[in-house]
Amino acid sequence: MLEPFLKWPGGKRWLVHQYGFLFPFRYQRYLEPFLGGGAVFFHLTPRRAILSDTNGDLVNAYQALKEHARTIDRHLSDLQRRHSKKLYYRIRATRPTSMIGQAVRFLYLNRTCFNGIYRVNLRGDFNVPIGTKDLVQYPKNYLQQIADCLRHASIRVVDFEETIDEAVLGDFVFVDPPYTVMHNNNNFVKYNANLFSWTDQLRLASAVKRAVKRGAAIMISNADHCSIQELYGDVGNLYRVDRLSVLAADSLHRRKTTELVITSYDLQLGDHSRGRVHWSSVDWRDHVTDI
Ligand SMILES: C[S@@+](CC[C@H](N)C(=O)[O-])C[C@H]1O[C@@H](n2cnc3c(N)ncnc32)[C@H](O)[C@@H]1O
Repeated sequence: MLEPFLKWPGGKRWLVHQYGFLFPFRYQRYLEPFLGGGAVFFHLTPRRAILSDTNGDLVNAYQALKEHARTIDRHLSDLQRRHSKKLYYRIRATRPTSMIGQAVRFLYLNRTCFNGIYRVNLRGDFNVPIGTKDLVQYPKNYLQQIADCLRHASIRVVDFEETIDEAVLGDFVFVDPPYTVMHNNNNFVKYNANLFSWTDQLRLASAVKRAVKRGAAIMISNADHCSIQELYGDVGNLYRVDRLSVLAADSLHRRKTTELVITSYDLQLGDHSRGRVHWSSVDWRDHVTDI
């Protein structure tokens, strides 16, 4: 079990910490078609995996860490010593061409930008201002542990459909798309509508249903909205889970919201006592509501 190396919008650290018992106990291969910070992958640390995302900078960072963790660590130590507001904007303005250079820039900006946001303008330039955190370097040996964890993973820049279409019996697929719903009722969803449309949600639901038919075990996390409940009503089990919203920068405006988790499989309660998955000391029925 490892913590993700990125702070990523929509990251699922909270899900693995509170709801680890929702994941299946046994599977041969793990697929994650909306990788982002990979909180679930690093929690489960599966032996075989296919990881993918359409964000090329993000995928490059994973690929570079898999092969060059030590060199990247050295570059980040150097940037730690030199870190300043001036350096942040200077590095933000660069466009390195090498795999390692791109990864170092990506990690440096992710660790020091405002709230770990990832945003690019129409020309593809990262345009997030500097944040308040100034920890650039990772703990000793941590990036090497990340590299070890990635050793047997195939990491790709592809659309989700390509990865989900590979899923077969014995596979576990964790599906965590950007959230969009049919009738927008909050700003977060509206903001994401440009990135991931309702048509994409329909295309995703079809790909998921085809994979379930082929025998794959699938878990989907999505917005707690009637359009999503309708979309996945015939896939398996729907659970409502609590989450503390961290979209607001100040803690006063953080609030508890709910999200949906859909599983194509039934929860095997007997397995949780074995400690393979993180198990909450409170009865799981206190946290999740069947829909
Ligand atoms: C909610 S985030 C995933 C967060 C991740 N589970 C974590 O714990 O950090 C969704 C990801 O989907 C990616 N994405 C958006 N559209 C996509 C598409 N059509 N195919 C594959 N990935 C896509 C985004 O780049 C983003 O990294």
